[in-house]
Amino acid sequence: MSYLETARRDAEKLLGRKNVRILAIESSCDETAAAVVEDGRRVLSNCVYSQIDLHSLYGGVVPEIASRAHVEKISPIVRAALEEAGLGFSQIDAVAVTCGPGLVGALLVGVSYAKGLAAALGKPLIAVNHIEGHICANYLSFPLLEPPYLCLVVSGGHSHLLMVEEGDTYRLIGCTQDDAAGEAFDKAARVLGLPYPGGPKLDLAAGSGNDRAFPLPRPHTDRPYDYSFSGLKTAFINLTHGMAQRGESLPVNDLAASFRRAVVDQLADKCMMAAEDLGQRRLALAGGVSANRLLRERMMEACAGRGMELYMPELKYTGDNAAMIGAAAFRRLRHLQLAGLDLNADPSLRLV
Ligand code: KG4
Ligand code: ZN
Repeated sequence: MSYLETARRDAEKLLGRKNVRILAIESSCDETAAAVVEDGRRVLSNCVYSQIDLHSLYGGVVPEIASRAHVEKISPIVRAALEEAGLGFSQIDAVAVTCGPGLVGALLVGVSYAKGLAAALGKPLIAVNHIEGHICANYLSFPLLEPPYLCLVVSGGHSHLLMVEEGDTYRLIGCTQDDAAGEAFDKAARVLGLPYPGGPKLDLAAGSGNDRAFPLPRPHTDRPYDYSFSGLKTAFINLTHGMAQRGESLPVNDLAASFRRAVVDQLADKCMMAAEDLGQRRLALAGGVSANRLLRERMMEACAGRGMELYMPELKYTGDNAAMIGAAAFRRLRHLQLAGLDLNADPSLRLV
């Protein structure tokens, strides 16, 4: 019997069982992460090695450095995740890994490791889309949440508005026409001289700034639920460069607050408009930018005002982690969607 046939037979048996434990691996960008998740909801361990210190010198992620660091850390991180869960390799029921989108060299480290492990243990292998992982972080924080719901996914590489449908399929409602929200935050932070990764630092600086100090443009998009951040980014760069050229010192907090408000206005307004038009009463956030304090506040207010349910992952699950990959993998397992040992990394893998 081939590996895939055996894996399928084992996966079918798992469907009728409780306490299914998935060892999940994430290495799509600058975090090497491993976790053990039970039944797609309970996090038995969640270990993350962040490479921020390695990349901060360069002001952004250097792909070669990321790949090398993943190679060094993946084995210790997997062992740490098993140890924290109090389990040995033999007590794991399946192995899951992010196969895209992301940096190809970084993804390949996780994919190769997971394939080797699944083959050696003779366990099913589950390939997970990183974006789906971010969405599924909500299942860890909200044990009773099930589709359908509308989800705003905002990360360093993606800004999508999606319908999460029953059966764990996805329907695209809107997406960015240019930059991702996180990318825009990071760029604006860089212009303000804030160190990488800039998004969280800009968020912090904005907390003590006047968000009406500088008027910034709100974009027009042809499709009503699409986003666009590049015009805003350019306006912000021109504003700050103009001040620097005139020898003025940058009012960092006011600039950060004005920029944050412009991004959050757009994210929140379009998302609420879509929810209303589609008649959706349940809304979820996902991705690194869902940690943004103003975005969380704004969505809470907007949903409370309309009597809508709002789901936001706990902060520990907003950024890249492997627990969210375990949550997504469990849902793929339930649909018996398994990967073979020919699984490859796909840097531009799409969800929809
Ligand atoms: O989801 P994530 O960890 O990685 C990707 O899949 O891209 O998202 C990282 C992005 C970065 O751009 C980071 O600056 C941004 O999320 N981010 C934030 C905040 N925390 C993380 N942006 C704004 N405010 C925050 N508090
Ligand atoms: Zn991510």
